[in-house]
Amino acid sequence: MSDNDLKTRILFVCLGNICRSPLAEALFLHKIRSRKIEHLFTVDSAGISNLHKGQKADPRTLANANNHGIEIVHRARQFQALDLQKFDKIVTMDQANRSKVLRHVSSNHDLLKVSLLLDHVPGMEGMAVPDPWYGGEEGFEEVFGIIDLGTEHFLASVLKKI
Ligand code: 4NP
Repeated sequence: MSDNDLKTRILFVCLGNICRSPLAEALFLHKIRSRKIEHLFTVDSAGISNLHKGQKADPRTLANANNHGIEIVHRARQFQALDLQKFDKIVTMDQANRSKVLRHVSSNHDLLKVSLLLDHVPGMEGMAVPDPWYGGEEGFEEVFGIIDLGTEHFLASVLKKI
């Protein structure tokens, strides 16, 4: 068995892959690094659309994360059907992203991989991480708090099962 077989492979998904999901990836990485358990995971993010393919995260997301001491190192890429085979858990930011991912699901095994980030937060099940792209700076700060909370609870739920 190789090290890779032991890793839990996690993909965060939003629409553009420049605001919410790269931040979720970076916050999750930050949490597993600070617990010294990064060897247990492969973490990535992707967007349903290919509009921002190859781009760095939105400057407002980068600046807000930086204010919190979080570095985002990611280039946008589009979600592919193959991601359902490559990853163990696909964590989507809102219902529209989840529906698009679910179109590619062909087994119950794959279906069980897909969730909303806030499904992992008691009392927030079924809720969306709002899309900050069209709004002002305060939206980015609000989204940071929501994704920080969501990734904390998601990590706790993953750790219970491995
Ligand atoms: P994200 O935000 O899905 O959190 O990356 C968006 C980024 C870009 C667009 C929409 C949402 N857009 O329409 O280009």
